[in-house]
Amino acid sequence: MITYLEEAGQFQLDTPHASYVLTVADGFLLHTYWGKRIAPQDLSDLLRLGDPPFVPSKNERERASFMDCAPFEYPCAGTGDYREAAIGIENEDGACACNLRYISHRIYNGKYNPRCMPHTWGNGCETLDILLRDEPTGVEVTLHYTVFDGIDAIIRSVSLEHCGYRDVTLRRVLSASVDLDDDRFEMLSLYGSWARERQAERLPLRHGKQRLDSSRGESSHQYSPFFALVRPETTEQQGEAYGFTLIWSGDFMLQAELTQFCQTRAQIGMQTDDFSHAFSTESEFDAPEAVLVYSESGIGGMSRTFHKLFSDHLIRSDYRYIERPVLINNWEATYFHFDLEKLKTIADEAAKLGIELFVLDDGWFGRRDSDNCSLGDWTPDERKLPGGLKPLTDHITGRGMQFGLWFEPEMISPDSDLFRENPDFAVGIEGRPRTQSRAQYVLDYTRQDVRDAIWEQMKKILDSVPVSYIKWDMNRQLTEIPRAGFRRAYMLGVYQMLERLVTEYPDILLESCSGGGARFDAGMLYYSPQIWASDNTDAKDRLRIQYGASLFMPPSAIGSHVSVCPNHATGRVTPFETRANVAMFGTFGYELDVTQLSDAEKSQIPAQISRWHGISRLIRDGALWRLGNPFRPSGYAAQQNADFDAWIFVSADKSEAVFTYIQITAEANMKSRRILLAGLDSDADYAFTLCGCEDVKSGAYLMQCGVMIPNLGGDMQSVQTVLQKV
Ligand code: DGJ
Repeated sequence: MITYLEEAGQFQLDTPHASYVLTVADGFLLHTYWGKRIAPQDLSDLLRLGDPPFVPSKNERERASFMDCAPFEYPCAGTGDYREAAIGIENEDGACACNLRYISHRIYNGKYNPRCMPHTWGNGCETLDILLRDEPTGVEVTLHYTVFDGIDAIIRSVSLEHCGYRDVTLRRVLSASVDLDDDRFEMLSLYGSWARERQAERLPLRHGKQRLDSSRGESSHQYSPFFALVRPETTEQQGEAYGFTLIWSGDFMLQAELTQFCQTRAQIGMQTDDFSHAFSTESEFDAPEAVLVYSESGIGGMSRTFHKLFSDHLIRSDYRYIERPVLINNWEATYFHFDLEKLKTIADEAAKLGIELFVLDDGWFGRRDSDNCSLGDWTPDERKLPGGLKPLTDHITGRGMQFGLWFEPEMISPDSDLFRENPDFAVGIEGRPRTQSRAQYVLDYTRQDVRDAIWEQMKKILDSVPVSYIKWDMNRQLTEIPRAGFRRAYMLGVYQMLERLVTEYPDILLESCSGGGARFDAGMLYYSPQIWASDNTDAKDRLRIQYGASLFMPPSAIGSHVSVCPNHATGRVTPFETRANVAMFGTFGYELDVTQLSDAEKSQIPAQISRWHGISRLIRDGALWRLGNPFRPSGYAAQQNADFDAWIFVSADKSEAVFTYIQITAEANMKSRRILLAGLDSDADYAFTLCGCEDVKSGAYLMQCGVMIPNLGGDMQSVQTVLQKV
């Protein structure tokens, strides 16, 4: 998978369909090629080293011109490259300069794992380490590149060792930078807000820098740590796409910079704006892993590569391979207003309908009748739950269901015993009032004693009642950052706590959450196989949120529930059946007061659960082919029809598939709509029932001629069908 052509000073990483090539020229490490696979050969012509200004050893007087146009693999600040740098090193006087030169390299089986951070894992991989050194400071930088068998992705990370004599400050350490010799790109990225996460946007690159970032202490609702550079002609199923994401849940930046010479510098890493890390001699530093995916089969091909990599080599939980229980969550059913009797009636009805896991959300601890208090006091509220959690868990397990519980372990309410006793536990700057958000402060997770104080309380609960599932929530962003480097250290503290939880309680199904989907990222996926995607459970809005999420995250990770109508977030009314079909693009569960449903709705639940169990393996292990696009024609989907959405999940051996179609808006005088399926075996025949009619058609027919869907008669009507190879 990795070759070194010594004479050309060239490294080549090959994946099934792509090659990634680097060259050492004049001691500089230069990016040479990334694209469709090519046989190993000398590609140094592509570097234009024969054009003026030439390499410095041939023309020292024009070093600055060389520095400002050469395609650096890991560009440095302060020595003539005025494009965005990947690394910035500041000395004690505040001078910032760096010039990394090649020292050595190593190719080996296995991989390097950044310390104390989530990372990809598994056998069947090969790694190239390239050691670079900035001579004046003595800082050594190792670039790590890993390729896994059969996957068109390159995992990059960066580790630093200070081998010099004087302490320095790291001003930035990005995880990946790639200089693409091309300007024919559009940038596909995700923006959003609370309850409107992951809206896809695709715009042409312009000269200058196009950047998305977060300095909120979380990957955020607003932007996701994902982007793709795609060709103007790239569609869902055809054309080139270069995808980037970060295995990190905190602050980040990503950027595409179109330069004076019409080259594109693509970068991703930890936030650079106010990054600062004191780097003393003999110390070490790691930047998170970045994942780079090349696809020549469109945006869909890129997504499927991310999904496969993350499913096979990132998610650690055994739930990756085993069936997850269908849950009911009481949040939208009761919010804070419940007591034991109310929960029991929901549980009784849910158990009767075949629901397998009851999740008790916020409001069960301290004196939490609203979001004004009690975070940090993780003892059951005896007013609502006399005798604690046990009578409830006995009742639930007695009905054959599992029990799940909500925590918000990183937070502290000003009105809590924990805060009254330990006001210093909350993040803040001395002499400055702390900013409240949702009436809460953030716990200083950089401190072991603070983490321990929460851990002991959680452990007490987990050891006293049978908890099979935890929802780990985080409902505010960080403010009043007490010192440089704090936000990175905070994230590492959260990861330590998550590590402790999944190590000591490996059987618990963990769902991470952040006020909906503010930490929907690959970093969290390492610990939690599913992540709550949004507080917006409206089926129509979910089409967009889930579409955006699936660009880089596996659908098996998308926390998705059926809730009541009118929807609490939008007031919209959609059919119960469609809400279920949309929630089946994800983890599938219910979040409603099942005792209040009509008999007609209730009667659909057992069938939905049994359908889900029939197809959940396809959603979890199959390949997703998006067949529609729920965005407005004026936005990302300019050439596509925004009035429907459709997708198909196909098993790895192509013997089985599940197809879902949503008619978003009905139109007057509407004809049937023809949808071309994808991902099937052309030569096989598939049996299926669509809109009440049984049929058998070849894969070729279904993919080239398609299926005809009649007007379903109204907005947000839907059909779902399983196709079986015959
Ligand atoms: C935000 C989550 O996204 C919701 O699902 C719910 O758990 C609330 N927090 C509880 O406060």
